[in-house]
Amino acid sequence: MHFYGTQGINENGHLTIGAVDTTELAETYGTPLFVYDTALIRKRARGFIDTFKQLGVTAQVAYASKAFACVAVYQLVAEEDLSLDVVSGGELYTALKSGFPAERIHFHGNNKSVLELELAFDSKIGCIVVDNFYEIGLLKDISEAKQQPMNILLRVTPGVEAHTHDFITTGQADSKFGFDLNNGQADEAFAQVNGHEYLQLLGLHCHIGSQIFETDGFSLAAGKVMQKMGAWKEAHNFECTVLNLGGGFGIRYTEEDKPLEPHEYVAEMIKTVQEEARALKLAMPEIWIEPGRSLVGDAGTSLYTIGSQKTVPGVREYIAVDGGMSDNIRPALYDAKYEAVIANKANDDKKSTYTVAGKLCESGDKLIIDAPLQQVSPGDILAMFCTGAYGYSMASNYNRVPRPAVVFAEAGVHQLVIKRESYEDIVVNDLPLTLKKGE
Ligand code: LLP
Repeated sequence: MHFYGTQGINENGHLTIGAVDTTELAETYGTPLFVYDTALIRKRARGFIDTFKQLGVTAQVAYASKAFACVAVYQLVAEEDLSLDVVSGGELYTALKSGFPAERIHFHGNNKSVLELELAFDSKIGCIVVDNFYEIGLLKDISEAKQQPMNILLRVTPGVEAHTHDFITTGQADSKFGFDLNNGQADEAFAQVNGHEYLQLLGLHCHIGSQIFETDGFSLAAGKVMQKMGAWKEAHNFECTVLNLGGGFGIRYTEEDKPLEPHEYVAEMIKTVQEEARALKLAMPEIWIEPGRSLVGDAGTSLYTIGSQKTVPGVREYIAVDGGMSDNIRPALYDAKYEAVIANKANDDKKSTYTVAGKLCESGDKLIIDAPLQQVSPGDILAMFCTGAYGYSMASNYNRVPRPAVVFAEAGVHQLVIKRESYEDIVVNDLPLTLKKGE
């Protein structure tokens, strides 16, 4: 069995996370439950930050909080000196509520509303990553009306295809995000913002995809973006001070996945940027990155209670859990693969094979197909690993299933950070029918 972070097995044969017995967590908080190993999040954060420090490169490591957003995780990453990438007014609001330092917040999105942008200005966030020409117009209007400066990056698509799942590739030329680097759009965007009274262009941003295991895509993209910076220096004597290379660093979901260590990705990126800077006679820009999954993914484990069981003779054996695609849409949406263990029988051999089904009304609601597992009985606790990124954050109330609770565990201590939704919560925004029949 592969342990992530502080996971282990205690004297009762139970899976532990942060030295806390997961079956006790299931008992205390109920299931489905997300349990985060906060020491592992901190370790991953330091892995990135220390690499930049050791290599003497000025950097910002911004947590891409779409992976998992809540007040407590924002407070945790603030403690680790990370910056924050938010992509909506909701994430920005949560960050501000959490007390996250506004000057370290970067705001992304391909269709930011006027209200969202005004909130960004009013809270004086550190930077807006500008995605399109419409947004440039809005930013000019807002900054001029408020007579307020704002740092910006231009998001560009370098046309680099990362080796990743099609659904989650965002860096290709055919992308809804950003200004194309190769067809003149990026130059036009530069012309529109350069020298503006309030919009202060710091540099360029690109993000080439997600769950990437090689460094060559990052290097290729970095090289292309640096060349554009070189061209602007030459043509306009404008020097970018920031290069944001996005996120996308892969993690281990199953034994098939062989991710690099954070320092390996970062060191390779830095090497390319340094070489390009030398060749183009540019000052070394600050490097910003935006890891999401690689900070929180393997730190999260989902706990479920096993209920019904169904044998399809000669085909497969199903076990059903008390959650499913409402708390983890990734298997249904991306065919994502996971590993699991029976938390209360963690020392037993995995002699059986089960397909783990969710409880939602959809045939595709299967969490793991043919998972090797310990022999199960109803009431056992299934621990599914590596659900910390894009699990809770993509959860829904499909079938009016309440969203799970989230707990942090570290050094024998656990704390509830998101309450389980109640049935009351489920109807809280519903209003009774007042239209009369036939009116
Ligand atoms: N920066 C930008 C501009 C992004 O679009 C993303 C992810 C990230 C950073 C963080 O990427 P990460 O390090 O987490 O791979 N729902 C999908 C992933 C969508 C990623 C969207 N953008 C999934 O569950 O795999």
